[in-house]
Amino acid sequence: MSRYRSLSVSFFLFAIVTVHGTSAARADEVTALASKEASVEQRVDQIIKKLTLDEKLGQFTQMWGGVKQDINPEQAALQRNDLEGQVRSGMIGSFLGIQSAARANELQRIAVEESHAGIPLILANDVIHGFRTIFPIPLAEAASFDPDAVRLSARISAIEAGAVGTHWTFAPMVDIARDPRWGRVAEGSGEDPYLGSVMAKARVEGFQGTDLTAKDTILACAKHFVAYGGAEGGRDYNAVDISLATLHNVYLPPFHAAVDAGVGSLMSGFNSLNGIPCTANQMILHDVLRDRWSFDGFVVSDWSSATEMVTHGFAKDDADAARQALLAGIDMDMSSFSFRTHLGKALEIGLISMDDIDRNLARVLRAKLRLGLFDQPYVDPEVEARVILCKEHRAAARDVARRSIVLLRNENSTLPIANTAKRIAVIGPLVSAKKDALGTWSVFGKPEDVVSVEEAMRARAGESIDVKFARGCGVLEDDRSGFDEAKKLAAESDYVVLVLGESEDLSGEAHSRSMLGLPGIQLDLAKEIIGLDKPTAVVLMAGRPLSVPWLAENADAMLMAWHLGVETGNAITDVLFGAYNPGGKMPITTPRNVGQVPIYYAHENTGRPPTDERYTSKYIDVPWTPLYPFGYGKSYTTFSFADLNVNGTEFATDATIEASVALTNTGKVAGDEVVQVYTRDMVATLTRPVRELKRFKRVHLQPGETKTVDFKIAVSELGFFDNNGQYRVEPGTFKLWIGADSEATLGAEFEVVPVAAKAMTKVAD
Ligand code: NOJ
Repeated sequence: MSRYRSLSVSFFLFAIVTVHGTSAARADEVTALASKEASVEQRVDQIIKKLTLDEKLGQFTQMWGGVKQDINPEQAALQRNDLEGQVRSGMIGSFLGIQSAARANELQRIAVEESHAGIPLILANDVIHGFRTIFPIPLAEAASFDPDAVRLSARISAIEAGAVGTHWTFAPMVDIARDPRWGRVAEGSGEDPYLGSVMAKARVEGFQGTDLTAKDTILACAKHFVAYGGAEGGRDYNAVDISLATLHNVYLPPFHAAVDAGVGSLMSGFNSLNGIPCTANQMILHDVLRDRWSFDGFVVSDWSSATEMVTHGFAKDDADAARQALLAGIDMDMSSFSFRTHLGKALEIGLISMDDIDRNLARVLRAKLRLGLFDQPYVDPEVEARVILCKEHRAAARDVARRSIVLLRNENSTLPIANTAKRIAVIGPLVSAKKDALGTWSVFGKPEDVVSVEEAMRARAGESIDVKFARGCGVLEDDRSGFDEAKKLAAESDYVVLVLGESEDLSGEAHSRSMLGLPGIQLDLAKEIIGLDKPTAVVLMAGRPLSVPWLAENADAMLMAWHLGVETGNAITDVLFGAYNPGGKMPITTPRNVGQVPIYYAHENTGRPPTDERYTSKYIDVPWTPLYPFGYGKSYTTFSFADLNVNGTEFATDATIEASVALTNTGKVAGDEVVQVYTRDMVATLTRPVRELKRFKRVHLQPGETKTVDFKIAVSELGFFDNNGQYRVEPGTFKLWIGADSEATLGAEFEVVPVAAKAMTKVAD
């Protein structure tokens, strides 16, 4: 990827400096101090000493720098002038929403050359699943169970975003979500802390690369710290009330993984956690993040989450909110302006000290230095045209999209479409979807870049297949006037593909749903078409798992195709026609109906686990099992698991377990299986989940091929956090299973013993 790195940056920099000259001698002084030779820490100290209080507060301030859409040119010019004036007077340390290299360079020039302090801006954007080359939504990418694919997606996002001068992305979103009603479930990696941790690490590595000063890498931001996904009722922004053990065992691990992977920043959540808003939560921002994890990056608040603490009823006014946020460990204030407005006064009356300010300021400056912004503040505008949506990026997006598709059902090998199918009807509200195919948070994506299912099917069908399209109905509308045409088309065909699901605006921020079925009258349409008894494959496009029990029983085949980005149509068509054999797995449990929520595989056993007995933990009107379990997904081939081997029956707490299984492709085509390892701590001082994912590997096998798939798990990874936040590995009996999903049956049992006991057994041996 380094081939993308601009060689002409220094020339470009020289040109800019020559044209504009240097203004403030003071800016020169600061820049000189920030010379390459000095260590980052020395440079931070030296810069801080030179700054006025207002300049310091400016560095804490982030504002939106995009151009408002609903204003006339004069108003736009005024807005630009206002922004530039604020930069010139050192009131701004960061923008979000700058969309072009030219504008990035212009603002940067004003900051570096015209502001008194000359500190470069750090420019942020929400690059969540691609910049212009939009990849699948993060939940879909997690379904690939393929960290290499996810790393590549983040890498390409960084190359494109870096090319327009973005230094920092508000991603990865690493919130664990066990309630699919929550609209933001689309932005994360699903319900599991281990899968979430693996994906968090891959994304941080992809965004940040190995050299943060390179223009094709960007600083990552793990968000939303923390437990934002635990919102009560799945209602966005809602309160979160969980035990400390749940916080540590479920919600914190992906953040810890991101920190271990070197993530440069975190964003605090909008939510309150056990009564304390995350933006002023000392326990998480200080005790966990700084003390335990030794995080030395910086923390940004979410959009106005500082002043929203007044609405929470936690701060008495904006000034109180700013003080509390600063002291808890917020280093940059996104768009509330409360830091720069109120912290001067707080200092004056002794509510905070200059040390408090300088401590947080140092974290912001450190990030700017680590990004190399003092040495190379500008971006070469020529790179943009070369890399954005280039052929290689599109090819990668297509491959990641195919890898993210999950085959949920396939009766009578309905998929792939046999080459005997000569008249195919493609029906449904999302057949021609472009904007909706991009998915939520695709800020820089353009609908016209998307290959829709219709376009890809037309291209694939060529002369030999007669393929016809009908919308049938809208995603949400209740107009049935298109049903007849759709039915006629289906009746005249020998194969039907139904493309159903959610538009992109049914998931994402502030887009939680109270129902999890197909929206609108789509199920009615599906029932009428499937009633015609043609071989029918359903393609579900959605930002969350959908509760579709009728389809799960009556459609011949069903694909979970999420919102897959610019290559949606090509990826889906590759899978429909068998050019690609799907191997994705569900990263989140699919409930049968919304009443089962929350439902997740790593639940506790209870004293009365569900059975057919009356007084057990279940519902009287729906089975206790999910529609599709976590980790579930089929393939066009079949796999068998055999010879589960664990290298012992007794392991000391400092030992490493080696487990293996023989995986065979027992079908007729090559394919991928995700081999998953689960464990259970049978008896502990806190009741433990019935299963916990510990490892997985996506393995490719030719027909008839067998591979031994092995795993190493340190016994120390089998522990858990108690309600004091203490990590414990408790001796006792454990079970382990290896298989194709969270209901794997091939298992083994072993004992964990204290190190001393194991040593004594050895002596006795
Ligand atoms: C609010 C969202 O919660 C956050 O995820 C996003 O990064 C910011 N807005 C900035 O757009």
